[in-house]
Amino acid sequence: SSASSLYDQMGGHEAFHQLTTEFYDRVAADPDFRALYPEDDLEPARERLEMFLEQYFGGPSTYGHRRGHPRLRMRHAPFAIDSWARETWLKYMRESMDTLHLPPLLDGMMWDYFERAARAMTNTPG
Ligand code: HEM
Repeated sequence: SSASSLYDQMGGHEAFHQLTTEFYDRVAADPDFRALYPEDDLEPARERLEMFLEQYFGGPSTYGHRRGHPRLRMRHAPFAIDSWARETWLKYMRESMDTLHLPPLLDGMMWDYFERAARAMTNTPG
């Protein structure tokens, strides 16, 4: 319905939990890409992505309460994100989104956002 948020239409907490779990399972299984992530435990990173996306798509604003303003470009500055890293991130996110089976319009809105955001996060040539 038009009154409910994208967050609700996309499946609410369960969907964002599944999306980020599928995504970080793929990160964990790729040693080259995993090396970009500084922490031994990926669960806190998964939870930060989950909270951020829930907030971004109109769900609970837990991310803001815990982490403040997202400043995502600044928070990614410590990591060398080149086109390989961007395309790898997007590939795992695309595969993870596919497990949600969202209606095409919602899928397209989420995917457009990820493509745009991933381009904005790229900070290293090559
Ligand atoms: C954090 C990599 C794109 C959202 C991180 C971290 C790394 C990383 C290494 C630190 C892990 C941690 O939280 O401890 C990348 C790479 C990308 C990418 C290689 C490729 C383009 C994106 C995109 C989004 C995003 C497109 C959002 C749509 C986040 C969030 C955090 C994060 C919310 C946690 C920020 C915080 O500290 O509160 N990312 N990222 N990332 N990333 Fe990305």
